Amino acid sequence: MTDTPQKSWQSRIGDGGGADTEGAKLAASFVESISYDRRIYKQDIAGSIAHATMLAKVGLINDTERDEIIDGLKSIERDIEANNFTFDESLEDIHMVIEDALIKRIGEPGKKLHTGRSRNDQVATDLLLWLGTAAGVLTDSIKNLQSVFVQLAERSADVVMPSYTHMQRAQPINAGAEALAWATSMDFAFYGLNAIYPGNTNSPLGSGAIAGSSLPLDPEFSAMVMGFRRPPRNSIFHTASRDDAVAFVFYCAMISMHLSRWAEQWIIYMTTEFSFLKIADKYTTSSSMMPQKRNPDMLELIRGRCGNVYGDLFALMTILKGLPIGYNRDLQEDKRIVFRAYDTVSSCLTMAAAIVSSASYIKENIEPTLDRGFLDATSLAEYLVTKSVPFRTAHHIVGSLVARCEKEGKHALSQLSLKEFEEAVREKAPDAKIGQDIFDALGARNVVKRYQSAGAAGGKPFEEQLKAWKARLGI
Ligand code: ARG
Repeated sequence: MTDTPQKSWQSRIGDGGGADTEGAKLAASFVESISYDRRIYKQDIAGSIAHATMLAKVGLINDTERDEIIDGLKSIERDIEANNFTFDESLEDIHMVIEDALIKRIGEPGKKLHTGRSRNDQVATDLLLWLGTAAGVLTDSIKNLQSVFVQLAERSADVVMPSYTHMQRAQPINAGAEALAWATSMDFAFYGLNAIYPGNTNSPLGSGAIAGSSLPLDPEFSAMVMGFRRPPRNSIFHTASRDDAVAFVFYCAMISMHLSRWAEQWIIYMTTEFSFLKIADKYTTSSSMMPQKRNPDMLELIRGRCGNVYGDLFALMTILKGLPIGYNRDLQEDKRIVFRAYDTVSSCLTMAAAIVSSASYIKENIEPTLDRGFLDATSLAEYLVTKSVPFRTAHHIVGSLVARCEKEGKHALSQLSLKEFEEAVREKAPDAKIGQDIFDALGARNVVKRYQSAGAAGGKPFEEQLKAWKARLGI
């Protein structure tokens, strides 16, 4: 045996008849995570620096040893960043690879780094640090997407369009209000991810393998060095928990869900039947056979990739559901999942933002259709309410008027005369006095100006939403 162990636990297990046997190789390649957990090298090094600093503070290593360890770790970090470092697969994971490299570089003091620590609290710590950084990147991407939706809202402020419930024409809206709806849909994940950062949670470091340590560690101090809020609350819990990873992937799934709904909506708007929207040609593709085609493939892929992220959430929660408390190797799969969810969602957010900045509503196609579908029926009922007609009665009156229009081949309520309105109202609400102003409540363009309720899809409430978004995003 050389001075540095092949694996830190090798002395107990032995090499089982030779590390070079087929079986040993099979097992080594099956158990390794270095092929993907090398991605947390930065967090692993930061955690180790905090740990060494703490060990020196409590006197378990001296200051010289601490400085040698820290310098060694920093040189490893520099080499990894310069692409000048070999990740040895036989050493299983990033924790053993870095520890091994450290011992090779600095000798004896390197062997003291793992004092009072296990890979179980180490990996839980690294993952939380990584999640905090990744959550920050995602919230930045969300902010960027929200900004381009707000800009779309602003440049579409003058476009009136139909809204749909049950995919049937509902009420007229300001096109910009719909763009703001998508910006708003990102806030659940935005605020959720904002809460995933070390400063909001307990550090697992100091929990050891499961039961903590009999050494006089100071986990409060290492927690502080890494920016965690507090030391471990319960060593058993922290080494077994992946709650923050689940929350992270859940928010990824929520982002994906909203992006998928948005993509679906825009795919519909881009059909010849709708022709409500155009996006830059570079975000579409053509057909290998049909020369006329302009297909919204980027939107379709955003919609499709949502399925992968849902799968990631289910994969992680399923892995966790059967695990007894304490570390189990199943947990190693967590990183594969969070990385994949993060990568998928990051690229979808970036693609979505590029598409939105290139998009515009096609006013010339939308507006001529606005007098179809009796979009102003609710507004007419609300007008009658202002003339003291009970809403249920008003609903009834307008329903009958729509039926009458359809029967008489009129496509819009505004084609009825004041006299016809008066007759219809008199029949069911004899005391109500209506006048010429009834026509102000008709026609999609008039209607959107009349919205007054907080958050409404036109008028002042829309202007206020736009203003609030611009102030919040600094645009
Ligand atoms: N590579 C492992 C993981 O990602 C690190 C912890 C391994 N701990 C152990 N006792 N085998 O989960």
